[in-house]
Amino acid sequence: MSLEGKVAVVTGSTRGIGQAIAEALLDEGVSVVISSRRQRDVDRTVAECRQRGKGKVAGIACDVRNSRQVQHLMSFAVQEFGGLDVLVNNAGVAYFAPVADLKPEEWEEIIDTNLTGVFYCCHEAISKMRSRGGGYIFNIGSLAGTNAHPTMAAYNASKFGLLGFSEALFQEVRADGIRVSHILPGSVETEFSAGGGDKSGWAILPAHIADMVVYLLKSPPRTMTTRIEMRPAKPRKG
Ligand SMILES: NC(=O)c1ccc[n+]([C@@H]2O[C@H](COP(=O)([O-])OP(=O)(O)OC[C@H]3O[C@@H](n4cnc5c(N)ncnc54)[C@H](OP(=O)(O)O)[C@@H]3O)[C@@H](O)[C@H]2O)c1
Repeated sequence: MSLEGKVAVVTGSTRGIGQAIAEALLDEGVSVVISSRRQRDVDRTVAECRQRGKGKVAGIACDVRNSRQVQHLMSFAVQEFGGLDVLVNNAGVAYFAPVADLKPEEWEEIIDTNLTGVFYCCHEAISKMRSRGGGYIFNIGSLAGTNAHPTMAAYNASKFGLLGFSEALFQEVRADGIRVSHILPGSVETEFSAGGGDKSGWAILPAHIADMVVYLLKSPPRTMTTRIEMRPAKPRKG
């Protein structure tokens, strides 16, 4: 199935998993809107992406915690490329500390980015997808959305919440031809979270998550894969 000419918004796509997903979609001929909080990073990523892939690329800064900026992001996709077919809710943050030590502003940043930001993006995207007769929403969760760990209470809360959100959402929008897949990776080799340790050589590569997104987009439209758990095959010992 060809993805050529489809339009995608990928949040948090100036590095890591989001950038890998944007690049894989461009390689498939999808028109992609790059986004994260800093316009300078967006401009750099757009310039890098123009060097590759068949699809068109544009970019705009958007903090997913801000509902007006999210409205603007989705309208930008329509202005630039004529509609919206694919939304990848990828932007995410983490701070790891015991509850007694976690700062209230760190809690707010995690919940507002990883959970409320996804709501804002879906809220804006669904009507645009309905007007095209369907679409595809990917929520990048985490295995921390099913497994709790000490020092991860805020991140766990955001990703457990996202799991419930995704499962309610797919039941709401499936009749409109909108598919929803929730991808739950284990450790991925990116710059994510200062406390993540060295992931080189054993963690999942961002391109592997991107391959899964492309695979799901090309899967038969009569079938919706709602939840995917991806783990490093050989996790670091100890
Ligand atoms: N890496 C892992 O081991 C791992 C494992 C499981 C799940 N995940 C999930 O995968 C997703 C991507 O993680 P990653 O590893 O690729 O992280 P990353 O390398 O730190 O990239 C995160 C991206 O999100 C953007 N971002 C952060 N806050 C934002 C906000 N409020 N509004 C818009 N953009 C924002 C960042 O740009 P700016 O900061 O410049 O805005 C950046 O582009 C996250 O949802 C994460 O929870 C990661």
